[in-house]
Amino acid sequence: MFDLEFFDIKLDTEVVGRNFIYADEVDSTNSTLLNKSNKYDKDGTVVLSEKQNEGRGRKDSVWYSNKGMNLTFSILLKDRDFSGRRINLINFASSLAVALAIENLYQLKIALKWPNDVLINGKKTAGILIESISAGKKIEKVVTGIGINVNQTSFQGIFKIPPTSIKEESGNNIEREVLLAEVLNIFEEVLQWIDDKPDEILKDWKARCRMIGEKISVTEGDQVRYGIFDDIDDEGFLILKTGRKYEKIYFGDVSIG
Ligand code: BTN
Repeated sequence: MFDLEFFDIKLDTEVVGRNFIYADEVDSTNSTLLNKSNKYDKDGTVVLSEKQNEGRGRKDSVWYSNKGMNLTFSILLKDRDFSGRRINLINFASSLAVALAIENLYQLKIALKWPNDVLINGKKTAGILIESISAGKKIEKVVTGIGINVNQTSFQGIFKIPPTSIKEESGNNIEREVLLAEVLNIFEEVLQWIDDKPDEILKDWKARCRMIGEKISVTEGDQVRYGIFDDIDDEGFLILKTGRKYEKIYFGDVSIG
């Protein structure tokens, strides 16, 4: 059971989550907000579903989450400036908000993995899928979909990064209402940084990215590149040092070694 009243007491935002849709079952909360016929049109609308029948991850993967145990939700952003590097910063703001919320509430040490995985003790506890709708060249809507493993303690399937949950790492049962409100409270604040202090987002993100300076491989489709993870640039792209050359990486799965 998700206690909507308790969640509302904890929510301290102006816009994000003020229009809140709570569903028992949907295909995907991202699709719910992206589907034009649903007419969700208010900036900051949040859809939380107890179960997703077709939960999606990055690169056509499936996001598995047991019913009622975790948080699978999406946030609609519209009527905003999405130009330049802003979309990438929304991506970093999403994983940073999840990291800060978990650190604040449960004192767990979070690592962030480029482009936007949230890890505890090297295992994945949350993932983010950003999708958008454009009209011509203009991005009209951005949906940031967030899946957090909260109280689930066994995971079936084959995973690139082994999964974990906050309960598994902290040993405690987690109040999902408190966590979701904290993520949304922080997300709204960090979104404001995109206008006020965008470099702070990257600085705080990089401070949690353990792979910088390490030997890595980046896999994109059939192609694997090897090098040193030199940095993340101002736009959010990974800079890979290969010999004397610096390459900009836009997409890919990063592994150590
Ligand atoms: C990833 O790490 O591959 C991204 C996972 C994103 C999962 C969330 S759950 C809520 C939202 N709805 C979806 O279908 N996917 C995202």
